[in-house]
Amino acid sequence: MALPQTVSFGWRIGVLAWLCLLWLADEGTALSIRRSTLNVKADASSDRIAAARGQQSRLALRKGSRGRSRRRRGDAKGKEGHANKAYGAKQGENRLLPAGNIATAPGHEGVGRWHDVPYGHFRPSFGNGAATAPGNKTTPQDDPTGLAPALAPGVTNALGEGFDPQFLTVPLGNGSQLFVTPDVNFGLQAFLRASTDLNDIYRDEAKNHVIFNYSSTDYPEGVGTEAADITPWDGGRFLYTVSAVADDTMRALLSRTQDVLGEYEDLGRITHNGTALKGFDPHVIVHPNGKKYLTWSNHEYVQIVELTSANTADGPIVNLVSYGVNTEAPTSWFYPNRINGSQTLNLAYAEGNFYQSNYNTRVLFQDVSSDPLDPAQWYQRGASTLSSSSSRGVFGPGSGSFFRGPDGQTWFGYGAFDDQDGAEDGKNDRFVRVQVAAADDKGVWIPTQVVETPKTY
Ligand SMILES: *[C@@H]1O[C@H](CO)[C@@H](O)[C@H](O)[C@H]1NC(C)=O
Ligand SMILES: *[C@@H]1O[C@H](CO)[C@@H](O)[C@H](O)[C@H]1NC(C)=O
Ligand SMILES: *[C@@H]1O[C@H](CO)[C@@H](O)[C@H](O)[C@H]1NC(C)=O
Ligand SMILES: *[C@@H]1O[C@H](CO)[C@@H](O)[C@H](O)[C@H]1NC(C)=O
Ligand SMILES: *[C@@H]1O[C@H](CO)[C@@H](O)[C@H](O)[C@H]1NC(C)=O
Repeated sequence: MALPQTVSFGWRIGVLAWLCLLWLADEGTALSIRRSTLNVKADASSDRIAAARGQQSRLALRKGSRGRSRRRRGDAKGKEGHANKAYGAKQGENRLLPAGNIATAPGHEGVGRWHDVPYGHFRPSFGNGAATAPGNKTTPQDDPTGLAPALAPGVTNALGEGFDPQFLTVPLGNGSQLFVTPDVNFGLQAFLRASTDLNDIYRDEAKNHVIFNYSSTDYPEGVGTEAADITPWDGGRFLYTVSAVADDTMRALLSRTQDVLGEYEDLGRITHNGTALKGFDPHVIVHPNGKKYLTWSNHEYVQIVELTSANTADGPIVNLVSYGVNTEAPTSWFYPNRINGSQTLNLAYAEGNFYQSNYNTRVLFQDVSSDPLDPAQWYQRGASTLSSSSSRGVFGPGSGSFFRGPDGQTWFGYGAFDDQDGAEDGKNDRFVRVQVAAADDKGVWIPTQVVETPKTY
């Protein structure tokens, strides 16, 4: 969640301090309020604390709504970039830049067509075809100039109702491939949608498979499964990581075999130095450098840490990017660098309010030889890669994943609203879209038009 640039830095600190107090007082309640507070940030003129409390009902609605219609069974989606998912290793401190600095410091306009900027100059991109600020319902202005075309050969978008897709493409060995993507029910179950055809992976509930039931005896407080990820793991197995909103932690499930739809073992919470990591939207990067990394959102920053096993992290926890709150949903892919034969790690993430049309998709990137744990070795693409489009009827495109598409090219799957008002009516009516995600010569995803999605559902 990003804060509007118009909001003072002091206000951000105040809200964060308040949230910390709440956290100490009642962790569970604070979590709900904190997520809700993100929604409130835009309304700078109102009583923010009162509003934040009120937002709890909105969060409940969001969850209830998701539970209402999205949770089905799917077969599996996967991320193909897994092998590619990179995780980095290093740490630095990413401080928020005062808004004035962001806007006025000279020499920060960035280089190249997309105004790429180094660490220290990352900034939100509201106004790039989307609403002008978090919480602003300004009609998105469509300016397709210079954007890569929206392509999705062989697929009828939207795929169906859903959100937070993390597609993985699993070769079947007979020339076919299985697309898989996790699904959740905000309760005790973890699902995988799976199909050889993207066209029915969300449309056909028979493609949605329960891969794990958390027991209400073992988990009397519930789990609250949300926003899961699936990654190829050692020994041909699959690591399924899932947000547990009941206690704001992340949990790991490991397949017992090489069957992505087979039995999964509960590895419990992902811990760091003996303590459960806090946050949501986990994503695992298996890096060509031989290391594995976990990247996620702690509600404020997209963070990254080295994974030393499927459920333990070690070393520094690094803040990569934030605009104050809830910058979220990291996902990764390695594109070839056609200029010098290297590879470029792309870390896409979402910024803006998750329930509004200013939610959009951004990209950080670095060379494969760089250290993912060193923020100073990351760059930001200056323009958002996916933004709302009124003419195409796509609002709030974000929280998605890269994968190998049916035509062999790199694709990106994501959720978006059909309605400019997003989830303001309390219903999280997102639909999953997939489209080609082309990169430039240096291996960075090019800002792309969102695919038109006539309602066929
Ligand atoms: C929303 O956009 C309008 C028009 O651009 C602007 O006047 C208003 O200040 C914005 N509101 C917020 C909260 O940014
Ligand atoms: C490969 O196997 C899958 C699952 O058994 C099947 O659905 C698919 O049609 C097969 N593909 C080919 C080309 O035979
Ligand atoms: C999960 O529980 C459901 C019943 O609620 C059952 O049908 C299903 O087989 C279980 N799946 C697994 C993987 O335990
Ligand atoms: C790990 O936890 C112990 C006990 O809380 C603490 O003393 C130590 O500093 C921690 N180490 C790291 C690297 O965070
Ligand atoms: C390739 O170019 C990138 C910058 O785009 C640079 O970081 C990297 O070190 C280069 N790699 C090689 C092998 O020249």
